[in-house]
Amino acid sequence: MDLKHIRLEPMTEAHLTRVLEIEGDVFSTPWTSEMFTQEVEGHLGSRPIVATLLGKVVGYAIAWFFDEDVHLVNIAVARRLQSRGIGKLLVNDVVREARKRDKEVITLEVRAGHAGVQVFYRTFGFRGIGLRKGYYSDNREDAVLMILELVRQAPAPRAGGRESNAR
Ligand SMILES: CC(C)(COP(=O)(O)OP(=O)(O)OC[C@H]1O[C@@H](n2cnc3c(N)ncnc32)[C@H](O)[C@@H]1OP(=O)(O)O)[C@@H](O)C(=O)NCCC(=O)NCCS
Repeated sequence: MDLKHIRLEPMTEAHLTRVLEIEGDVFSTPWTSEMFTQEVEGHLGSRPIVATLLGKVVGYAIAWFFDEDVHLVNIAVARRLQSRGIGKLLVNDVVREARKRDKEVITLEVRAGHAGVQVFYRTFGFRGIGLRKGYYSDNREDAVLMILELVRQAPAPRAGGRESNAR
């Protein structure tokens, strides 16, 4: 599999059969078909995307875009294609869009026991800022709340303008 053959595109109803297969395979408490349908319909500022390989869905990411922040609520890559860079493409796309829309932060929750997934998020600059106790319904596992602060570009000083007093 060559990453240059991966395409990112908006998730549609047509993708949901394969999305649900991946979801059921990788998560212990998978989202339902109705939940994905709401996302595709744009519920809560949702921006669902899929990664496809030769037209077939191999991963997806769903982020909710609020006024100032973005919440990454779901991301998965088909088990047999994990650890080949597809997750990175998906997260980078969310980060790029969040910067484009001038958002301040991206947040997400990850299982406290999933150290590897936390390492994955840290590669983008996410850091843990707290625990949500007993967040997951299946085993009452804690969630680690992670945040990525998106640095806004300061406006360029006007030509000939005075220097700011702020040091
Ligand atoms: C988490 C997930 C989306 C990552 O996608 P992926 O395609 O496997 O990840 P990538 O190959 O893009 O990895 C990107 C980076 O994270 C690192 N990484 C990924 N998974 C890792 C793991 N389990 N442990 C340590 N590092 C990991 C890789 O080393 C890579 O860094 P590099 O490019 O500098 O080498 C995917 O593994 C998955 O679907 N997991 C099951 C579902 C899940 O847990 N979703 C997250 C819920 S919060």
